[in-house]
Amino acid sequence: MDNQDKFKSQIRGIYRLLSTLMVLFFITAFGIIYLLSDPTLSFFRGTDTSPEYVQIEIEDDFDKIENGIHVRTGFKDAEGLMTVVNNCTNCHSAQLVIQNRMNEERWIATIRWMQETQNLWDLGKNEEIIVNYLVNNYPPKKKGRREILSNISWYELNE
Ligand code: HEC
Repeated sequence: MDNQDKFKSQIRGIYRLLSTLMVLFFITAFGIIYLLSDPTLSFFRGTDTSPEYVQIEIEDDFDKIENGIHVRTGFKDAEGLMTVVNNCTNCHSAQLVIQNRMNEERWIATIRWMQETQNLWDLGKNEEIIVNYLVNNYPPKKKGRREILSNISWYELNE
């Protein structure tokens, strides 16, 4: 009986060893197969491994218009604004333009003067757009004060 028991437990031992080996074999085989199909192990790192492109909304403040004023330069928002911004703020501030109020003739004369003496480039077709913008938005100021009265016939005040 003793021998038989010993034999049985030996068999059991071998059986256990074999089944352990089998389990290890299957685990390894499964691992290898998995690695072949997913070499980067992306499954364990979340489903989306592509770089994330976060869309950041950058507010385009550069040419913001507020209350009808082009904030960056102070020019009034009107037809031709950007042409004026692009041609008339390179050498001096927009304020130098804004503080001047002229009629068409004088605006053109000022442009000619800058072209002749200050290296202002030929404005081409833009000249008309610019001059129109300036005349419409920065015309000569209306006279602030009432003109002196003339041609008045005074009358006698009779009590
Ligand atoms: C190439 C450079 C340049 C550009 C571009 C330019 N200017 Fe000028 N501008 C000058 C210079 C230099 C002066 C003299 C500045 C000073 O006196 O400090 C001047 C002066 C002026 C003045 C003042 C004139 C005066 O009699 O006091 C006005 C108005 C003016 N520019 C308008 C404009 C307008 C409108 C444009 C767009 C068409 C323009 N500028 C583009 C160079 C330029």
